[in-house]
Amino acid sequence: MLTRTLTITDPEMQTDALDEAAEVLRSGGLVAFPTETVYGLGANALDPDAVQKIYTAKGRPSNNPLIVHIPDIEAAKALTTDWTETAERLAQHFWAGSLTIIVRRSAVVPDIVTGGGDTVGLRVPAHPVALALLRRVGLPLAAPSANRSMHLSPTTAAHVQNGLDGRIAMILDGGAAPGGIESTVVDVSGSVPRLLRPGLISLAELEDMVGHIEFLPPAQTQALEIPRSPGMMARHYAPNTPLELVSSKNLPVRIHELVAQNQRHGVLSLSELQQFASNAVIVVPMPQNSVEYAARLYAVLHDLDVNNINRILVETPPDTAEWLAIRDRLQRAATPLQL
Ligand code: TXA
Ligand code: MG
Repeated sequence: MLTRTLTITDPEMQTDALDEAAEVLRSGGLVAFPTETVYGLGANALDPDAVQKIYTAKGRPSNNPLIVHIPDIEAAKALTTDWTETAERLAQHFWAGSLTIIVRRSAVVPDIVTGGGDTVGLRVPAHPVALALLRRVGLPLAAPSANRSMHLSPTTAAHVQNGLDGRIAMILDGGAAPGGIESTVVDVSGSVPRLLRPGLISLAELEDMVGHIEFLPPAQTQALEIPRSPGMMARHYAPNTPLELVSSKNLPVRIHELVAQNQRHGVLSLSELQQFASNAVIVVPMPQNSVEYAARLYAVLHDLDVNNINRILVETPPDTAEWLAIRDRLQRAATPLQL
């Protein structure tokens, strides 16, 4: 299949491109589009055959549920039987934005979207291209991150193309996704709201709106087997190159070890490590601010991945609330693949 890329700089003006994308979606095809978190791979959420193509293109197991994107709260309500007070408060405050809310699904949501489960994840994205597309197409769009399963999420159209060229009909190129990591996922379908995936909207911000939210670190959630959410699987969001998290203290020793073993490697640094840079050591100074760090993270990992190196070292970020989502993604990226 030929994958067409259309560049959209101004969604208000470029209605022709949006019409073409909407037409692909209405006829059951796949369109990758920018959101404010990462690029999504969209299909008509009400058409099981179209949604099946997402799983095929990504190589994703079909028991892994998809997030459904809608343009507003009204459209969200049409997809659930149980729009609770908690859901309403979160949606009012955080939509459009990088929060996915898991609620009980209504019968119009096909099994293939929910992995057969009785809940559905809903999100109103804030990106102007995503919103314009959703309004134009007039359908809810199931859209996971637009990467091959188990790989890094894409933050540019070029990343999408590297992973999915020839496997999808169209890519809308709206520039770099500004947030850089995936949305916060909160499940409000049970008796107590539960944070399933940390993101740029923090636990504290959510709790300010709706009171206590449960959050169990990944190891414990796996032991408990609470609602399956593959974003919670140990290895996820990973570059192809093996990645290690190393404390600031141990980093100089680790760099020396790798140099001694002739291993070319990249280092994502938070402290001053430029003195270690050489042919064998690519030092990438990362922002000290967690929001700016998130915006850069996947792009830096994508770049290092195509750089023919043996290993990526990441200086462990501080163990504080603002770094929770980034530490979560890095820990999953660092977990060795279980074969
Ligand atoms: O920022 C984002 O959320 C991006 C953009 C495109 O919106 N999407 C994204 O989708 O990251 P995906 O499929 O790569 O990750 C969605 C996560 C997965 O971990 C999935 O298992 C979980 O949300 N999820 C979706 N629906 C769920 C449900 N009904 N119950 C539990 N977990 C769910
Ligand atoms: Mg994903």
